[in-house]
Amino acid sequence: MYLSSIEEKMLNGEYGEVIEKAMKVIVKVGETLGAEKLVEISHAHISGVSYFNIGDEGLELLEDLSNRGARILVYTSANPYSFAGLALYKDSSLLEKQMRIVKSLIKMGVDPNSFTCTPYKLRKPGIGEHLAWAESSAVIYANSVLGARTNRESGLTALMAALVGRTYYADMHKIENRKACEEVVVLFDINSILIASLLGLYIGKVAQCIPYIRARYRAESELMFDLMVRNMLASISATSDLPMAVLEGVTPQHTYVIERSEIISVNLKELEDMDLKCYSDTMLIGCPHVTLDELKLLLMDRHLDLLKKQGIQRIIVTVPKYIEKRDNEVNALIQRMREKYSIEVQILPGGCAVVSNLRFLNFMTIATPHGKALHYLQNLAGVKPCTIHV
Ligand code: F3S
Repeated sequence: MYLSSIEEKMLNGEYGEVIEKAMKVIVKVGETLGAEKLVEISHAHISGVSYFNIGDEGLELLEDLSNRGARILVYTSANPYSFAGLALYKDSSLLEKQMRIVKSLIKMGVDPNSFTCTPYKLRKPGIGEHLAWAESSAVIYANSVLGARTNRESGLTALMAALVGRTYYADMHKIENRKACEEVVVLFDINSILIASLLGLYIGKVAQCIPYIRARYRAESELMFDLMVRNMLASISATSDLPMAVLEGVTPQHTYVIERSEIISVNLKELEDMDLKCYSDTMLIGCPHVTLDELKLLLMDRHLDLLKKQGIQRIIVTVPKYIEKRDNEVNALIQRMREKYSIEVQILPGGCAVVSNLRFLNFMTIATPHGKALHYLQNLAGVKPCTIHV
């Protein structure tokens, strides 16, 4: 692999042991993927932040790196953490361990306001920018909607890339690999987050390669349109390892090539298997995270009437860490929901339900319109997911 003189120095240990080790990982993975060179990145995004996922071993690794002087070279954000970091469990050692992970990342230079799976809301990458992002839902959004370029990194390779400011020039970084090779024709209107999610779960299951998706979206606003697209893509990434989908009319021109062969048509009936019909009085919103404006849109009266009819009594909402302060409008909304609909709303900045052990919190079922949560809640959080129409 060709390395610049500064990259050679990094690899040879001239910038210290941590950089040397990180560079070795990046070069080794790059060689395995056939990369002929490295490419500088503008933004890294790290996953694997939940104590329930990485345990004591992961915590010790991060603390060791940060104590040995590891410092990131480029803007870096991180994924949300478990509800242990929000002091929701009785066991105080869980809170302490979760926050040690967060502190180690911040010490290495991770943006303390991030801890979100929607890093593009905090720093929106431009077309053609090279990134090293972990978090599959963010990767597929960056490639498919923003026209940026990133592979689906692991938490570790994203951290190593952040430390050296570079990643391997392979796969999604090269235009010839951003190739849509089968066409998916959607035969119904995408008119809700739930329908977008179920469609995404289905496409992820059937697509053999990057799909070119031809669909009609019926959204009342730009915000709702973006929520639908985001949930469809997050769902595709949950049931497949695809890092990208080409969305007709959405994916920026010249950021992909087309070599279509097969055509797959999808009708509503095909989504039935993904529709998990059961009842829960608790609902999850924010997988991927939502902003407060999006939350206000989702909690409009006509949606609330529907939720009330479906027996919802409590809503937990996961939002980016930087949304710790709520505006007056949201406070008023929460109060009105309590008084008018008897629905309690709990906003959890920086949290992720899926990477939390929800059985410990006495949840048995959770209703959600988000495909990624529907796919993972049972196995990762230990609760039964139910679909709900939003
Ligand atoms: Fe985000 Fe957690 Fe869902 S990281 S996409 S809220 S599984």
